[in-house]
Amino acid sequence: MSDSSFTPRVFSGIQPSGGLTLGNYLGAIKRFVSMQDEAFETVYCMVDLHAITAKFLDPATLRHNTRELAAGFIASGISPEKSILINQSQVPEHAQLAWIFNCVARMGWMQRMTQFKDKAGKNAEASSLGLFAYPALMAADILIYHATHVPVGEDQKQHLELTRDIATKFNHDFGVDFFPITEPVIEGAATRVMSLRDGAKKMSKSDPSDASRINMTDDADTIAKKIRKAKTDPDALPSEAKGLEDRPEARNLVNIYAGLADLSVDQVLAEHGGAQFGAFKPALADLAVAKLSPISGEMARLMDDVTEIDKVLARGAEQAREITAPILKKTYEIVGMVGS
Ligand code: AMP
Ligand code: TRP
Repeated sequence: MSDSSFTPRVFSGIQPSGGLTLGNYLGAIKRFVSMQDEAFETVYCMVDLHAITAKFLDPATLRHNTRELAAGFIASGISPEKSILINQSQVPEHAQLAWIFNCVARMGWMQRMTQFKDKAGKNAEASSLGLFAYPALMAADILIYHATHVPVGEDQKQHLELTRDIATKFNHDFGVDFFPITEPVIEGAATRVMSLRDGAKKMSKSDPSDASRINMTDDADTIAKKIRKAKTDPDALPSEAKGLEDRPEARNLVNIYAGLADLSVDQVLAEHGGAQFGAFKPALADLAVAKLSPISGEMARLMDDVTEIDKVLARGAEQAREITAPILKKTYEIVGMVGS
């Protein structure tokens, strides 16, 4: 339940860990763009503090990735006039609230986070404390804006449940109704875009096989080639969504088509049901190139002169702090910190 006393406000973030994929675009950015035209205030963030939790990147690479991600947001249609676009470390209240939340969240809650378990792998002892605390910083990202809605891909659901638990516990422990209980927004055909090589695995920038994903910076030939080589089964496409149930690779390609074309899966199948992949794949490749090429072209143009991007981020940080500074001050006051 999102409390009606809170102004509807959207927050979401992506890690500048290098390379945007079609999964990020369909699962996240595309929806960020449409939400800025709905009746919402929107704040979108490059989460550079999260990007150092797995390991420190080379400093020049982190700076490059952060700007390139900002370029990807802008090129995809996020307008700095309509949305506040920020880099996390430039708005210090995120990290400040995260400390308070480190003291709200319980060890047991954090130990249940599947993303930590996945990322830490077998050697959890050697992971950074930051990787373990990652979801508390994410909760702070959201709640430092009193954000009510958070569009994300399916993989972030558990972190959003934790965000609600932190808000609930804080409100309860201090007897206040200060933090909203945020709604996850996980919608659309493509909230979980799968690898092109394995329909059981998520499309990810960290997959060692480049053929498993479409990168936002891939050129037209590369996109077409990756789709042509995508793993499929030998059957024709069904005419209804039910026929995709046990066909993860086929379902993934249809979902991607639906996401790119803004159609439902049933609409795609009404048009392409009965087609063999030999015909469907070129149609998908054409569609992907038509949608993605203008974005990658614009990203390259923006990256030619990063001063423009840096200006957008500096202005975004200023706008953001008008929201975050009073919320942090009030949090400190509730907690009992002298001077607030
Ligand atoms: P990340 O790149 O992990 O920081 O993810 C940024 C956003 O993209 C999050 O909202 C993710 O849920 C979303 N995302 C990443 N990969 C995928 C995918 N394969 N399918 C759908 N959404 C995704
Ligand atoms: N953890 C998110 C991811 O990996 C990124 C993220 C950080 C985020 N802070 C956020 C997403 C706040 C939504 C809201 O995808």
